[in-house]
Amino acid sequence: MRTHRDPQTLADAPSVLDRMARILAARGIDQHTVDALPDEPEPYSAEQALSAGLPPRYRDAIAQHPQVLAWVRQVAALTAAPSLGARRQVTTGPSLLMAGAVGAGKTHEAYGAIRALVQAGIGVRWRATTAADLYAELRPSADTDAERVLAAYSRVPLLLLDDLGAAKSSEFVEEQTYRLINRRYNSLLPTLITTNLPIKDLRTCLGDRVTSRLAQMTTRVSFEPVDRRRLPRAA
Ligand SMILES: Nc1ncnc2c1ncn2[C@@H]1O[C@H](COP(=O)(O)OP(=O)(O)OP(=O)(O)O)[C@@H](O)[C@H]1O
Ligand SMILES: [Mg+2]
Repeated sequence: MRTHRDPQTLADAPSVLDRMARILAARGIDQHTVDALPDEPEPYSAEQALSAGLPPRYRDAIAQHPQVLAWVRQVAALTAAPSLGARRQVTTGPSLLMAGAVGAGKTHEAYGAIRALVQAGIGVRWRATTAADLYAELRPSADTDAERVLAAYSRVPLLLLDDLGAAKSSEFVEEQTYRLINRRYNSLLPTLITTNLPIKDLRTCLGDRVTSRLAQMTTRVSFEPVDRRRLPRAA
């Protein structure tokens, strides 16, 4: 018969503390250094974990555009729980092409959309990058594996690809964009894309293979041509 044991605290278990001290010592870590580390509060809710990963400028962004809110509802409706009782996860869904002038609020709406999904209690594995940063990450270099980088952006359930078409066009840019968009297109993975360019300029910049896929996989969202950064009281 199993007997009930009261839960032990670390303080009640000197052998555990001794063992921990031996492990730290074996790794060359001074116990006193560990003791002196400040107690930083860890993010404890999904929303706080999300906030920690958001750029501070967009940490409080709230999506307001009706088409963006409709996209949130669509993606939320397509979520699935990996097992009974588990939290629903973003797995598939449509994409948005958010087009408009500089400062119109595209990136704000995109982060607002991600926040709205998290606030709805949905598990969202997401990544965000600007197209220019992505190309920089994908350039061949001695210390990064560009294929792994591309695979991570291709497979993440929700991707924010910001400022598509803002980088100087080249064969490399066209090819890498095609590889990323084609994989996400084939896998029916939701992608929030922002751009300053009209579609005909995107075609010139990225080629027909990319823009044809975007035409099918995205709903186009247009923004009023107002530069919000230049409005009075914009900080
Ligand atoms: N609905 C909103 N409410 C309050 N502030 C907003 C809103 N939309 C945008 N902003 C603010 O306006 C500024 C410009 O917005 P944002 O960066 O989203 O523009 P953008 O369209 O992505 O511009 P760009 O094309 O230059 O990247 C930011 O400071 C942002 O926080
Ligand atoms: Mg932006």
